[in-house]
Amino acid sequence: MVVEPGCGTGRLTKLIAEKVGGSGIVIASDVSPRMLEQSRIRLNGFANVHLFHEAIEKVPLVLQTIDVALCHNVFPHFDHKPLVVAKLVEALKSDGRFIVSHFMPSSWVNSLHRKTNPAVASDLLPDQENMTQLFDEVGMQIQELIDDDRGYLLKAVFK
Ligand SMILES: C[S@@+](CC[C@H](N)C(=O)[O-])C[C@H]1O[C@@H](n2cnc3c(N)ncnc32)[C@H](O)[C@@H]1O
Repeated sequence: MVVEPGCGTGRLTKLIAEKVGGSGIVIASDVSPRMLEQSRIRLNGFANVHLFHEAIEKVPLVLQTIDVALCHNVFPHFDHKPLVVAKLVEALKSDGRFIVSHFMPSSWVNSLHRKTNPAVASDLLPDQENMTQLFDEVGMQIQELIDDDRGYLLKAVFK
């Protein structure tokens, strides 16, 4: 089972749904009604996708049932990152993985947010020290961190 907060128009959601197949489940949510409507259209017929028009903070997740929490292009936008991390981590199985990804490095993502729109100017990817602390507080450790011209990829696992 995969949880994908901030699924947007569902492009990645569809790829995940195809990957996990009929025996898997994808739980995807987005706060934007416009985005979610696009997801609904794209994912029409995918019985293995559960879409929520809801902030991930409010989506009902069963404890220790999730294999992967995948935050693609959304982590900077969480208003209260420790709360979201704690919520997703308590839903992970003991061998579950927490992934944060972007197609660009954090410097690029943060610079884009700072200059694009005042509404997202403070939506930033925390630096490595702060990310380490965020995951340490919930009993996880960063197993892999790529932050260069290949993009940003953080993988955290339980200690
Ligand atoms: C930059 S878009 C990325 C969308 C998608 N992941 C993609 O890569 O195409 C970020 C999305 O996260 C959503 N979002 C922001 N905070 C959220 C939250 N707390 N829970 C769920 N969705 C959220 C926004 O509405 C927006 O659609």
